[in-house]
Amino acid sequence: MERGYILLLMVLIFATGRGEGELVENFYSSSCPNVEGIVREAVSTKSSQTLTTIPATLRLFFHDCFVTGCDASTMVSSPNGDAEKDAPDNLSLAGDGFDTVVKAKEAVEAVCPQVVSCADILALAARDVVVLAEGPSFNVELGRRDGMVSQASLVKGNLPKPEFTLSQLNAMFARNNLSQTDMIALSGAHTLGFSHCNRFANRLYSFSSSSPVDPSLNADYAQQLMKACPQDHVDPDVAIDMDPETPRTFDNVYYQNLVSGKGLFTSDEVLFSDPASQPTVYDFAKSSGDFRGAFATAMRKLGRVGVKTGSQGSIRTDCTFINS
Ligand code: HEM
Ligand SMILES: *[C@@H]1O[C@H](CO)[C@@H](O)[C@H](O)[C@H]1NC(C)=O
Ligand SMILES: *[C@@H]1O[C@H](CO)[C@@H](O)[C@H](O)[C@H]1NC(C)=O
Repeated sequence: MERGYILLLMVLIFATGRGEGELVENFYSSSCPNVEGIVREAVSTKSSQTLTTIPATLRLFFHDCFVTGCDASTMVSSPNGDAEKDAPDNLSLAGDGFDTVVKAKEAVEAVCPQVVSCADILALAARDVVVLAEGPSFNVELGRRDGMVSQASLVKGNLPKPEFTLSQLNAMFARNNLSQTDMIALSGAHTLGFSHCNRFANRLYSFSSSSPVDPSLNADYAQQLMKACPQDHVDPDVAIDMDPETPRTFDNVYYQNLVSGKGLFTSDEVLFSDPASQPTVYDFAKSSGDFRGAFATAMRKLGRVGVKTGSQGSIRTDCTFINS
């Protein structure tokens, strides 16, 4: 009887000590020891085939984490067109991010069936694409479980908009346990990838009644953007590089661009124009090391947002379907 009690106590201590909710780097060390290598290989193959793999995968991770936590809910397809990925706010997530995770999951399932979550594969893939673009490497904490819910209606109000001010950005990131410094570092992801013209056309043609062109835009850059995105025929398929200087390299040139008025969105440029965040932008523009360190820290924190662990959620077999 007494022994049973002690055993129960030990089980309880063990269970709480392991902390439901805590991720660990070696989560799959016995159940799928090669998971990192398998994912890296699949991501590298996919990115050698398609240019957009790298930015699309990184952005997919961000959107997933900000909507119901990092639980691969954004991966789910719905025959009714009402899953998260169908929301207008999915802001045109590129299909190559989804495909990267699907390919990596297939490779992992072939070796360790039904053990590794899609959410963890997305977290690993997001780190791997940053490294492929010459960004910083960092260890990824694991142990996430996949979400059981994916609804377009849950997206609204949870993703930042390109028109956001500094305080709006800070408020939304703070809700996800991310500081202003984390937010500024993560915005550095805009050193890669593409944006469609309609996401920033307001800064070129209808900024305010006194100034149709946003005065915080570098004049030459504004001309360049107008040429790529003419007002009269805004082609919804036209997308331009978000970093006009080094669009395929994960570097701190994004911050140097902000200093010279070449931030593409209001939410980018405001990081420099608002005195409350300007010192951090100057720091990251000058010190690649400071940026890389802050980005790695912030990505690990982003990866903890709203995670499901232990007996919560599930391990999906197919990342695009919720197991019934
Ligand atoms: C700070 C607030 C943010 C805003 C307002 C924002 C907004 C946007 C918008 C409007 C686009 C263009 C989408 C399109 O037209 O196709 C975009 C692209 C992108 N964003 Fe963000 N974003 C933010 C933060 C982040 C963060 C934290 C990350 C990742 C850590 C990220 C990664 C990306 C990437 C990689 C792309 C390029 C996607 C591609 O080429 O497929 N963004 N973002
Ligand atoms: C994003 O949403 C739009 C509708 O708002 C939809 O047409 C598009 O297919 C969605 N993108 C993805 C990758 O699911
Ligand atoms: C933020 O951190 C607190 C304390 O660790 C945690 O309880 C909460 O769930 C976190 N919020 C999100 C959105 O992850």
